[in-house]
Amino acid sequence: MPNDKPRILVVDDERFIREVLADFLVMEGYFVRTADDGEAAISELSLNAFDVVLTDLKMPKVGGLELLEHLKHEHPQTLTIMMTGFGTVETAIDAMKSGAYDYVLKPFKTAEILQVVDRAISKRRLEAENLRLREAVSLYKVSEAISASLSMDEVVQTICASTISDAHADVVTTWLDDGEGGFAERGFATAQDGPALGSYLRIDAVSGRLAQERDIVVRDDAARELFDATPRPVHATAVVPLRVRDGLIGWVCAVSTTEGKVFDEGQRKLLTIVASRAAAAIDNARLYDNLQATFRQTIQSLARTIDKMDRYTAGHSERVARYAERLARSLGMDEGQVEVVRQAALMHDIGKVGCVMNLNKPGKLTHDEYQIFKRHPVYGKDILDPIQFLQPVIPGVHLHHERWDGKGYPLGLEGDSIPLIARIISVADTYDAMTSNRAYRRALPHEVTVDELARCKRSQFDPDVVGVFESEIDGWLEQWRDQGIDVPE
Ligand SMILES: [Fe+2]
Repeated sequence: MPNDKPRILVVDDERFIREVLADFLVMEGYFVRTADDGEAAISELSLNAFDVVLTDLKMPKVGGLELLEHLKHEHPQTLTIMMTGFGTVETAIDAMKSGAYDYVLKPFKTAEILQVVDRAISKRRLEAENLRLREAVSLYKVSEAISASLSMDEVVQTICASTISDAHADVVTTWLDDGEGGFAERGFATAQDGPALGSYLRIDAVSGRLAQERDIVVRDDAARELFDATPRPVHATAVVPLRVRDGLIGWVCAVSTTEGKVFDEGQRKLLTIVASRAAAAIDNARLYDNLQATFRQTIQSLARTIDKMDRYTAGHSERVARYAERLARSLGMDEGQVEVVRQAALMHDIGKVGCVMNLNKPGKLTHDEYQIFKRHPVYGKDILDPIQFLQPVIPGVHLHHERWDGKGYPLGLEGDSIPLIARIISVADTYDAMTSNRAYRRALPHEVTVDELARCKRSQFDPDVVGVFESEIDGWLEQWRDQGIDVPE
C-alpha cells in the first residue's frame, strides 16, 4: 500500500536528477512522484498530499521559491527541501528564512539526501503525533464540558472558547437556527479585542454554501463573499456546519484577522469534530428545554386546577410560589433548589382534590370538615408519589403544615427536623392566606400580617425564615408593584 509510505514529491527540471532521486527514494521505501517544474508540482499537489517536497531552486516558469510560497499557503504541513547549486547558497538560506525546512547542495551524495529527507519525515511524524495528542486533549476537554451541560448557552460558550484556543482563531461567532426559518448569532468570542464580526456575516451566503459543502474555508479576498465590509480585514475564515439528522441547525465561524494565517488541516478537522459533538449536545439541550417547558406548564396547570376548586383561593398557589421562590434565594439556596421550592409551592395544596367537601362554604369549617381538610398534605404526597421527577418537591407538599414547635400536622415534626423547603412554604402560604379574602373573613393588611408572622416565630414558624421574610418583603412588593402585579396593601 503506497499510502502507508512517506510521500515525497521530487521537483527538478533536469530529468536525470529527477529519475535518479526517484529510483533511489523508492528503493528506500518512499512513495515518490516527480514533476519537471513548479507548475507541474502545483498540479500534482492538487491531486495528492505529500509529506516532503524536494525541489530544485532554479527552474523555468515557476521556480522553487514560488513553489515554496504556494506550499506555505495551500499545504502548510508539507515540508520543503531546496536543492541548489553552489552559486545560489544565499538564496537557499533566504528560502529557509521564509519557511523551507532545509537545503542540500548540488552535486550531492545520495546518503546526504537520505539523511535530510529522513529527518524531515521524522519531524512530520512528530508533528502529526503532537497534533493527534493535542486533538485528543482538546476533544476530551470539550466533550467533557459539553456533555456535562444541558444548557444551550454553556454549550455554545464552550465551542466558542475551544475554537479560539485550539484553532487559534481571533474571532469566533456561533449561529443557530431561530426556529422561524432563519439563523441568529448565539455566541461570540474573541482572542483579544477582536472585532464583533457577527453582524457583518452574510447569512444567506453561508447557509447556502453549507447546504452544498462539507465546510467553507476561504482566505483573504475570498472572504468578501461571506462578509460585508468589515472594520478590520479578514485573512482566513473557516465555517463548519452544526448538523442534526441531516438538517443544518447552525454553524461555527472561525475568523483570523492575522495576516498570513491559515486554518490548517488539523485545525479544520478539530473544528469539524467539535462541531459534530456540539450539534448533538445542542439538540439534547433543546429537547431538554422543551421537556422543562412542558414540565413547567404541567405544574402550572396543576396549580390552577387546585385554585379553581375554591373561588377564594384564585391565584393563591402562584402567589405562594412567588414568595417561596424569593425566600429560598434570600436564604442562600442555589438556583436548582430555588426551582424545586417554587414547584413545591405551586403544588403545595394539590391534595385538596382528595378532600371531598365544600371548600366554598361560608364560615369556618366544622370539626369533622377540618379533620378531612387536614388530610390534604398526605393526599398531596400520595398524588405525587408515582411521578419520579417530582420526588424532590414532595417534602414541601407533604410537610407544609408542620409547625416549628412540633404542634403541626401530619407528622408533628419539630424545628430543624422539618425540611427547609416545608418551613419556607409554611411562611409563604400563611402570609398569602392572611392577606387574601377568605370565605369567613376579609383580607388582613400587610403590616398586621407581618407582625403576626413575627409574633409566631418559634411557635409556628422557623425564626430564620420569618426574619428574612420581614426584612425583604417590602422590597419584593415594591418590585412587583412596579411590574404591574397585584400585591397586598
Ligand atoms: Fe395547605
